[in-house]
Amino acid sequence: MSTELTWSTAFAPASSGNVAIGFDILGFAIDALGDRVTVSRTDRPGVTISGVTGVAGHLPSDPAQNTAGRSLLALQEALQPAFGFDMRIEKGIALGSGLGGSAASAVGAVVAANALLGAPCEKLELLKFAMQGEAVASGSLHVDNIAPSLFGGLVLTVGIDQPRVKRIPVPQCIRAVIVHPHMYLATRQARAILRRSVDLSDFVWQTANLAGFISGCYTDDLDMIRESFQDVVIEPQRQALIPGFQEVRAAAMGAGALGCSISGAGPSLFAWALEPDAQRVLEAMRGQFVSRSIHVDEWVVGLASPGARVVASG
Ligand code: HSE
Repeated sequence: MSTELTWSTAFAPASSGNVAIGFDILGFAIDALGDRVTVSRTDRPGVTISGVTGVAGHLPSDPAQNTAGRSLLALQEALQPAFGFDMRIEKGIALGSGLGGSAASAVGAVVAANALLGAPCEKLELLKFAMQGEAVASGSLHVDNIAPSLFGGLVLTVGIDQPRVKRIPVPQCIRAVIVHPHMYLATRQARAILRRSVDLSDFVWQTANLAGFISGCYTDDLDMIRESFQDVVIEPQRQALIPGFQEVRAAAMGAGALGCSISGAGPSLFAWALEPDAQRVLEAMRGQFVSRSIHVDEWVVGLASPGARVVASG
């Protein structure tokens, strides 16, 4: 009797890219929500998508145009398996939310397919396949959602062609607060508005903040994390896309947050706070959106999640 799997389902968590000061290179996983992708063997060569359910909206069913489909095509091209893949995607992450929805589908697809093949690939190889899928959605090869969704926790990625991934330790007392206002904001649009050049003084400030933030994480230095938790390059350009941004951020800081910024390309906002302050920060942020008649979803999560994993197979 063959013990080979015929199908496999993977869960891939949502994620928050940039973390204020690490545009396109730093992100953390949000294990409270995510996408589930089931990949099955088929006799047909290639990749098919037989269903997309959940909070999907309209997603392309042509695999070359779909983030998860494109990732599987990249994996197939590299590994040349003797069978094709059919895929069903259950979206738990709203599109255009700034919570890494396209990355999660891409990561879920490659993790499930890797399990079907007997796990020939390390996570770093899977990262490269998933990056091809993410590029379909956003038009750019950025990794700050793919890497945390795959590896879990707070992740720094250096390099694109030969990416190096470093999971950064976060002081255990810190929680992430995430508030998703019910609006759609296309990543492509939020990238298209960004200036192509940066002032030298802003470059120095942002570099200092990134270095300070990461060293603060490694040394449990909460003051250093708080002081360096400021994006002086991207956030000033994007905040006009999010109604009430300044007030939501001010409310979070007033409630004791260590920092608050845009999650990925927005419109979701996130804050980091000490565990005893997290609920108060959440309520302060929610209150600002609700006072503008904007409904929200909200989560408080730890920062030590395991990343994408196989949750069922047969
Ligand atoms: N780093 C990307 C951006 C994340 O901010 O455009 C998109 O989710």
